[in-house]
Amino acid sequence: MNKQGIGTRCVQAGYTPGNGEPRQIPIVQSTTFKYDTSEDMGKLFDLEASGYFYTRLQNPTNDYVAAKIAALEGGTAAMLTSSGQAANFYALFNVCECGSHIVASSSIYGGTFNLIAVTMKKMGVDVTFVSPNASEEELNAAFQDNTRAMFGETIANPALTVLDIEKFAKVAHAHGVPLIVDNTFPTPVNCRPIEWGADIVTHSTTKYMDGHGAGVGGCIVDSGKFDWMAYADKFPGLCTPDDSYHGITYAEKFGKEGAFITKATAQIMRDLGSIQSPQNAFILNLGLESLHVRMPRHAENGLAVAKFLQSCPEVKKVTYPNLEGDEYYEMAQKYLPNGGCGVVSFELNGGRAAAESFMKKLKLIAIETHVADARSCCLNPATSTHRQMTDEQLEAAGIPAGLIRVSCGLEDSEDLIADIAQALH
Ligand SMILES: Cc1ncc(COP(=O)(O)O)c(C=O)c1O
Repeated sequence: MNKQGIGTRCVQAGYTPGNGEPRQIPIVQSTTFKYDTSEDMGKLFDLEASGYFYTRLQNPTNDYVAAKIAALEGGTAAMLTSSGQAANFYALFNVCECGSHIVASSSIYGGTFNLIAVTMKKMGVDVTFVSPNASEEELNAAFQDNTRAMFGETIANPALTVLDIEKFAKVAHAHGVPLIVDNTFPTPVNCRPIEWGADIVTHSTTKYMDGHGAGVGGCIVDSGKFDWMAYADKFPGLCTPDDSYHGITYAEKFGKEGAFITKATAQIMRDLGSIQSPQNAFILNLGLESLHVRMPRHAENGLAVAKFLQSCPEVKKVTYPNLEGDEYYEMAQKYLPNGGCGVVSFELNGGRAAAESFMKKLKLIAIETHVADARSCCLNPATSTHRQMTDEQLEAAGIPAGLIRVSCGLEDSEDLIADIAQALH
């Protein structure tokens, strides 16, 4: 399937109906599955046979959609989660435990920052945040003996920094740990981090993948490339028998290609249970079927709005990686040559007060705690998504208090520009 173009994979990967079977993926709206004998079911519990017994662990609808996203990212296995938050937490917690340490880019989504800096810290997992612009030497210096993962976002929300995936992967691998990349904003249509060395890719499917603001969800994709057994001392959860699962050693039994997602399903999803509902997985698949058609339009609108904002005297700074002159323009040319996404950040000369008054005057672009759907929306991070962060943390993450993030939808760019112009002037 991976030899096919990205568009064909968006439409067709993950589900191939047999003769007389439904053309659209079936929604298997069932919590449980029936078996004739206890032995049949026992084999599933022992991971000796593949199949379904309880939707918290696996469901056919979810598996079709996860297989499609794995094919899009070029991975070997994937799992859907109930949200992007659950995807990032599970991906990290699958390799960390109390006493572990993470090296993470400081330029990441506020919810993920909080997850790592506060909630995982309470669980005994420590973190060192690094600048996305850090040199190799600076990145190396952040590692400790107990570091178990490196984390970053391809295009960070909302700072719109672009991660140097190749550099981060090189440093992570030199320390024997996987690089986990949240690829929510560009989606695999515009960037496939595995091709640049990332080991695990995560998504808030709530955003462009769904694309219509219809269902919250997440996804984890494994590249199948990280050799867990080569660093068995660092990853006992994958490389030594799991007493809570009949003494299975995931990396031995399922190899590089299957260990990570099997453990995340059999152990973490079993115990923590943030599964995506089959209904939401079906809705997500509808979004995926047009992802390759929608992403270029989002990026086109983003660039048009960014160019317009750049020409306005009321605007202090425009941030859009694919805009010539942007700090991350070169990086975007490397990782996002076909465009990034529809999200543009800008700062008004009048700071926080000007931002508030501008947003009040918008007519077409709505104020929402959301990005990346068909309808354009905007938000002031400092007073909403990032309000848990201090001014110092906001500054370090590149999000001044007067920053506005606008998510360009699929409308005509002329109408978006006209709305912004009337609110500005
Ligand atoms: C880059 C990124 N990762 C993760 C998340 C969290 O995803 P969710 O809201 O689906 O839990 C978000 C949410 O905005 C995000 O932008």
